[in-house]
Amino acid sequence: MKKVNSSFTQLKTSNNFTSIPSRVPRGRSFNQYQSKVTIVLRSHNCGELTKDHAETEVKVCGWVNNYRDHGGLIFIDVRDRYGLIQVVFDPSDSAKSHELAGSLRNEDVIQANGVVRLRGEGLVNPNIASGEIEIRATELIVHNKSKTPPFEPTGENIPNEDLRLKYRYVDLRRPALLEAMILRHKLCKATRDYFDNLDFLEVETPMLGKSTPEGARDYLVPSRVHPGEFYALPQSPQLYKQLLMVGGLDRYYQIARCFRDEDLRADRQPEFTQIDVEMSFVDQEDILTTIDGLIAHMVKEVRGTDIQLPLPRLTHKEAVERFGNDKPDMRFGMELADIGEIAARCGFGVFAKTIEGGGRVRGLNAKGAAEKYSRRNIDELTAFVGDYGAKGLAFFRVKEGALDSPIAKFFSEEDQKAIIEALGGENGDLLFFVADKCAVTSAALASLRVRLGKELELYDPMDINVLWVLEFPLYSRDNENDRWKAEHHPFCYPNIEDLELFETDPGAMRAQSYDLVCNGYEAASGSVRIHDPEVQQKVFDFIGIKKEEAEERFGFLLNALRYGAPPHAGIALGLDRWVMMFLANDNIRDVIAFPKTQKAGDQMTEAPSEVDSVQLRDLHIQLDIPEAGV
Ligand code: AMO
Ligand code: AMP
Repeated sequence: MKKVNSSFTQLKTSNNFTSIPSRVPRGRSFNQYQSKVTIVLRSHNCGELTKDHAETEVKVCGWVNNYRDHGGLIFIDVRDRYGLIQVVFDPSDSAKSHELAGSLRNEDVIQANGVVRLRGEGLVNPNIASGEIEIRATELIVHNKSKTPPFEPTGENIPNEDLRLKYRYVDLRRPALLEAMILRHKLCKATRDYFDNLDFLEVETPMLGKSTPEGARDYLVPSRVHPGEFYALPQSPQLYKQLLMVGGLDRYYQIARCFRDEDLRADRQPEFTQIDVEMSFVDQEDILTTIDGLIAHMVKEVRGTDIQLPLPRLTHKEAVERFGNDKPDMRFGMELADIGEIAARCGFGVFAKTIEGGGRVRGLNAKGAAEKYSRRNIDELTAFVGDYGAKGLAFFRVKEGALDSPIAKFFSEEDQKAIIEALGGENGDLLFFVADKCAVTSAALASLRVRLGKELELYDPMDINVLWVLEFPLYSRDNENDRWKAEHHPFCYPNIEDLELFETDPGAMRAQSYDLVCNGYEAASGSVRIHDPEVQQKVFDFIGIKKEEAEERFGFLLNALRYGAPPHAGIALGLDRWVMMFLANDNIRDVIAFPKTQKAGDQMTEAPSEVDSVQLRDLHIQLDIPEAGV
């Protein structure tokens, strides 16, 4: 029999000062120490055993994945984080263990001690890493019985999400979730290694702070010692990281938790994580280059592949013109085309009138899709673009060099050819058009493009396509409140060439800001910051934050800018979204260990929940809850 040779390492400690006796005599080396750490319960994990361990005595622990009784022999697959191993209970090895094994059920937690044996000829299972071996058990310890689980974590069917969230600890045993947790860890590690190499410091910033104007509603925390006053959980560490630059830390990053009370979507959580970055004495180009390097490093670490640098760049204007929005999925083409000129002279009233009224007629080409979409499918697409404000969706099949559609008769032969040419059409293509205000054509066609790209399988879902979108507008009109508002946040530096537009055409001012877009998601966002208190005050004035209000809300920042603030710039990447993209998963809840539901609740702990009256009294809070439906 070979001696137990454990490679199972878990606990790292330099504990050599304790009054509680240790399993390892004092004065032993770290290696001797750690080999003793888990040996009592397990010598190996379920994923590391191979045929090289044949005839070795081992101890494994884990969950009962499945159970088969083959007339006399009982086979149990034991599962842990690292893999699966088959354990065989034979009454001739140990009658007691065999009998106990007969009572095992899925998800019981067990320990099996025994000897690794090669499986017999024809019994090898090529589907699992340990398929050539099994453990002949001599001893079985049941550490814990499990109630019948609400679902089989390694079953074929994915259970409904509410149930998964309620029993998240069972759900976390599913391979897909484990994979997400591992990938998340890898991305964090890659991030830390990359920034550490470049002399960045990881600094924590407060959770209990003052509200930052990131645009969403704050989560507030009442103060007990300051009756009637509240902390705000950070929407991002924005102001603190700027203050760290004033503090001379030069290069900062943090894997930071952010909190935003906003309407949730498939890519939004109320509590999410940013890879938050700020640098001093840099301009926009430095940030883009630094983050290019980070993305290449992450892709290399996670996928093992190289990504070409520099990452492609588009201006905001170009992105909206070519793809309809500022976060184009560029894993596929299908660019938008403008047929305004043809529309203006054609006989189709909807098109001609739209142009007359200052609108636009734009469309896209679903290549080769003429026969893939029935009239009913197209009606569905029409309803779909309706959600984005489009009043209709004109369509044409390209057939024998001409347009085929109920409305084709309104277009001369020459105009039909011109339309086909404008969209790079060929026989068998399906062309779609929206006639409306420019913004509606953009929104409707951008969404239609994404939907068609997916339905027509125009890309490999595992592809990662990353690009920069630059030169965002600095301000936009807030019609509801009749004032200008900052597009990103009020700390973005305007483009230097555009400074004079402050007085003449503020809407045309561009920001020194940048977004990183990946597979159609906004995956990061940042800007060069204002480091001059005069300019910062001017911006606050401009967006209607009065001097007293600015002092009250951001006085600490304005003050700091008066005490020697270096030029600085930064960015924040949405970590959860990056995990989603690497996994080609479009549900953010699948990449967070304990996420919130669509209604910002926690199914498992039932948070948020009522608190007792003593807690409320201590916080000087009286509830005034409107009756349901009021
Ligand atoms: P911004 O608000 O654009 O910028 O956020 C940066 C990135 O964080 C991700 N993100 C989210 N992910 C999941 N759930 C959410 N609710 C959510 N909100 C945002 C996105 C986004 O691109 N302080 C600035 C950054 C800076 O200027 O340095 C900020 O927070 O991927
Ligand atoms: P109608 O004249 O409303 O029967 O529409 C004829 C065709 O034009 C239908 O296929 C509509 O979907 C389409 N259509 C109507 N309004 C628009 C519009 N604003 N943009 C694009 N197509 C439209």
